[in-house]
Parts: sequence; structure tokens; C-alpha cells
Amino acid sequence: MADKRVTFASKIGVVAAAAGSAVGLGNIWRFPSQAADGGGAIFIFVYIACILFFGIPVMMSEFIIGRSAKANTAGAFHKLAPGTPWKWVGRLGVLTGFLIMGFYIVVAGWTLVYLGQSISGHLLSVDNFSAHFNNLLANPLKQSLWMIVFTLLTAYFILSGVRKGIEKSTKIFMPVLFLFLIILAIRAILLPGAGAGLDFLFKPNFENVKSTVFLDAMGQAFFSLSVGMGCLITYGSYFNKNINLAKTAVQVTFLDTLVAIISGMIIFPAAFALTSNPSTIVDELVTGGPGLLFITLPELLNQMAGSMIWSTMFFSLLALAALTSTISLMEVVTIYISEEYRMSRKKSTLLVTSGVIILGVISSYSTGFFNILDVSTAKYMLPAGGLFISIFVGWYLNKQIVAAELTNEGELKFGIGFLKMYIFLLRYVAPIAILSIFVYGIIG
Ligand code: TRP
Repeated sequence: MADKRVTFASKIGVVAAAAGSAVGLGNIWRFPSQAADGGGAIFIFVYIACILFFGIPVMMSEFIIGRSAKANTAGAFHKLAPGTPWKWVGRLGVLTGFLIMGFYIVVAGWTLVYLGQSISGHLLSVDNFSAHFNNLLANPLKQSLWMIVFTLLTAYFILSGVRKGIEKSTKIFMPVLFLFLIILAIRAILLPGAGAGLDFLFKPNFENVKSTVFLDAMGQAFFSLSVGMGCLITYGSYFNKNINLAKTAVQVTFLDTLVAIISGMIIFPAAFALTSNPSTIVDELVTGGPGLLFITLPELLNQMAGSMIWSTMFFSLLALAALTSTISLMEVVTIYISEEYRMSRKKSTLLVTSGVIILGVISSYSTGFFNILDVSTAKYMLPAGGLFISIFVGWYLNKQIVAAELTNEGELKFGIGFLKMYIFLLRYVAPIAILSIFVYGIIG
């Protein structure tokens, strides 16, 4: 197989790129509202179980497929299973990535709007944040413009290539993101009254748990870990021979989960400490959604001393997290088009950028379209992809390839029990778990 394929230069670069993909709006925007919705600690407990039982195994599978095939998401299935319909799983993945981008970049555009308003001080003068956010939602032209800015920014890093674009940027952005995250968490926890927020997050609250907690947690695990569409097949195809795939999957998952939990440790303490209306804060948090980050949080930040600094830091954090994720999504589609249709990276990037902008404009103008993209990808397409990926590696792929990839051709020593457990998770546990999300998507 073509070993000429470009790779990430360093181990740190591999972890930064993959964690950059995983850590995104899913952790900072989606996780806290889901946790609030699912009864705090109870949701977190189920979420962690999902990660262990199928998040990590599917992530490892994507790495295995990618590195053994050294091809784009669709090309990888084609190479490993020539002449079979498996290539459609790859194509479905590429399409899923394209569609996720179609709404994700709109939210990413909002982060730029808020970042600009934090820097200019405009946010300081807002007194009704709900109206402020709704004004933005009612202005599709403005949303489109910032969405386009964000997409072009993403395209810039894609154009710069795997090492100079993806690896270099994530190696710089991820540590900055962690630094901001930790500073903000310390600031939030030191606010008087923050303890109630931590209790809300970490104490099981059986009143708030919904019957769908299992399924919600599984969906969140997929989305947050960037698994189920072959995003990490594409990244895996850039891994060197010496990368320990299992260890990398564990590290990336650990970082992703850490960011989600620390985000909760910023948002909930701030919410409880700064609210003027303690009786409604729980409701607000539970109904959360987009409002949590774009209405509740800026309102809270505004009450803190030095709020311009804190909100600038927070929205840069959010924009960076989104950027390293959109980079991964755009790379999947770009390298697919470039390899399958023999096009230069430049041409392919241009094509994908235009396509994504068209989707993004439609999403900005139509909430219905935005929601269709969101729901169809997260609820249907990712679980379907994850199901196929675990079946592919668990049942179809030659176990010698699997063993060779996990052990780096025998160099790493894993007990046979480890390998057996991994295959068992892929064959039975993950498909059944995933199938239940899928069923939920249809009946829920
Ligand atoms: N995981 C990212 C987040 O949490 C989003 C993302 C990037 C993603 N690439 C993906 C989600 C691939 C699913 C599949 O924001």
C-alpha cells in the first residue's frame, strides 16, 4: 500500500489533531445542557459507561480502518473490502460529515459574532440577552456572513495541508483552549455561591432524570467523540506506524470528557452564583440548549468584574474549539473528493467550501433546515455509521489486520484478553447499544 501518504509528524500532533476534532461545540454547548437535562451525576455516569463500552471501541476501529487502508473514509472501505457494498458506509460517512458542517458552522458563526462583541465591548451594553440572541437569529444575513468567515477560516487550514494546517494549528490551539478553560473554571468556582452549581452537576438528581437518559447519553457520546462517520478514519490514515492506536483513543477520549466536565464546572457554578433569580435558574439550565451559551452565560459574565476579559476568553475558547472540529469535518470531505476524483487539494477545498457555504446559508435562513441537518445526522446517520463500523471491524475485517494494527506489527504487547474483550465489545455490545439509539431515533 502507498506509504507515501503524508502523516502527522509527531505523537503530540496526533493527539492534538484528534482531540481537536473531538473537543468542540458538543462539549461546551451541548454537554452541559444534556447533563442538566439528565439529572447531573446520573447523566454523567451513563455517559461515561457509553464511552467505555462503545465510544472507545468504535474510535479504535476508525483508527484501525484508517491506518491500515491509508485512504480517505470512503476509499478505506473500498481498499479493505473491494467489490463489496461496504464502500457505501464510507460514502455515507462523507455525506454525514458534509451535512454536520452545514449546521455546525452556523453555530460557529455565532461564536464569532459574540467574540467580536466581547472584544468591542458591545456585549457590556446589552441588557436583554434573550432579545439580543433572538435578534441575531432573526438576521440570517448577518449569520450567513459570519458563517462564511468561519468557513473560509477553516478552509485556510485545510488548504495549508495535513502538517502545516491541521497538525500545526491544533498543536497551538488545543493548549490555549485548555488554559482558557482552566482559568475560567477557577474563576467560576471562586464566585461566592458557586457550590450550588457544583452540587447541581455532581449530585444525582432523580427528579430531573428522563426515561431517555440512556439514549441521550449515547447520542452525546457519538457526537462529542467525533465517531460514527469515519472522521477518525481520515485522521487515522495520517497516523504513523509507531502510533499506539488504543492508547491514542483512550487519551483523546479522556481529554474530550475532561473538557466536557470542566465546561460544566464553568457554566453551572457561574449560573448559580450570579443569578438574580434562584428559583428559575434550574429551569433555565434544564431547558438550556443554544440559550445556555448565548443567552444565560453572557448575561452572567456581564455581572462579573472585568466581564470584557472573561467573555472574550470564553468566546475565543468556543470559537477555537469549533474551529479544530470544523477542520476535521472539512478534511474528511476534501480529501475524499481529492482522492476519488483526482483533484488537487486546492480545487477540492474550493469545491467543498462552496458546497458547505450553500448549506450554511440555507441553514441560516431556515431553522427547519438547520434542525433537519442536526437531527438527521446526530440521531440517525452517526449511530448508523457507528453500527456499521463496529460490525465491519468486529465481524468482517481480518483479525490479523486488527491485531497487527493494535500491536503495531507485534511491537506493543497487549494481553490476548484485551484483544478478545475488544472484539467482544465490537461484535455484541456496541451494535446492540447503537441499535437501541437508532430505534429511539425512530420512535422518539
Ligand atoms: N465532536 C465535535 C464536537 O463535539 C464535532 C465533530 C467533529 C463531529 N467531527 C465530527 C461529530 C465527526 C461527529 C462526527 O463538537
